[in-house]
Amino acid sequence: MATQTNLLLVLLTSLLLSSLPITTRAAASELEDEHEFTYEEGSEKGPEHWGEIDPHWRVCGNGEMQSPIDLLDKRVEVVSGLGKLKRDYRPAPAAVMNRGHDIMIEWKGDAGKININRTDYYLKQCHWHSPSEHTFNKSRYNLELHLVHINSSGRIAVIGITYKYGRHDPFLARLIPYFGSVGSVENDVGIINPGDIKFGSRKYYRYMGSLTVPPCTEGVIWTMVKKVRTASEEQVRAIRDAVHDGFEQNARPTQQQNGRTVLLYTPGPL
Ligand SMILES: *[C@@H]1O[C@H](CO)[C@@H](O)[C@H](O)[C@H]1NC(C)=O
Ligand SMILES: *[C@@H]1O[C@H](CO)[C@@H](O)[C@H](O)[C@H]1NC(C)=O
Ligand SMILES: *[C@@H]1O[C@H](CO)[C@@H](O)[C@H](O)[C@H]1NC(C)=O
Repeated sequence: MATQTNLLLVLLTSLLLSSLPITTRAAASELEDEHEFTYEEGSEKGPEHWGEIDPHWRVCGNGEMQSPIDLLDKRVEVVSGLGKLKRDYRPAPAAVMNRGHDIMIEWKGDAGKININRTDYYLKQCHWHSPSEHTFNKSRYNLELHLVHINSSGRIAVIGITYKYGRHDPFLARLIPYFGSVGSVENDVGIINPGDIKFGSRKYYRYMGSLTVPPCTEGVIWTMVKKVRTASEEQVRAIRDAVHDGFEQNARPTQQQNGRTVLLYTPGPL
């Protein structure tokens, strides 16, 4: 049974991951590819047109539950019933990879899980967007980290953490030495402990959204940490320098909330 579940997980993960890097392979070979997308607003392959580039990407254009969104306290429902975010991460071997539009750390072993609504979601990879994709009351920050988890039926849960310029981020400091030479082929980075990623606050926003890159798949459970953390300008520049030309800015514009509920969890009595 356990083996079967593992197999299913591996299968789902490879499906998920293979659906994402299509654009990257294109970008890596520096060929003009019909699947390529850009972040340049107003350009033919820019965010307004992602839904027209590939039939599998239509939801990028006509989806009603797209990400990222603006998070504003006035529009959110404050609750304590959501419960503390249950993280059970563990150190595991990882590899770094340049997907063209971003830099990704992929865990190769069991990096642990989070638990939402009594369902376990296993940590698979993390990657960065610069500037931030989610905004807080329209304020966009310098960087956003996405921790991508998947459950055994293939449901995705992403935790997002935003950063502004300030003190360096220790987790990035451990990884940046590998970014300079990173290519489209995986590079081992040794054992990485996702527990080293600091949240800095228990407060978080919760809403239902999508992947923020094509195919913009919906049904993603979003958890956005409320606290804005810091990373140094040099660290953000290192990430921007590592991605392919034209992807130095890889933040999708915010999408319509369309009446979706956004919850804000705060611990203790309100
Ligand atoms: C969690 O469960 C509650 C109650 O069943 C449901 O209303 C809510 O949509 C669920 N949240 C997520 C993120 O699945
Ligand atoms: C959001 O920003 C506006 C304009 O800067 C400000 O007037 C308002 O107080 C802010 N709202 C919240 C909830 O922070
Ligand atoms: C995966 O998550 C979805 C959505 O929360 C849930 O309906 C499903 O039961 C979960 N699968 C397992 C095997 O826990």
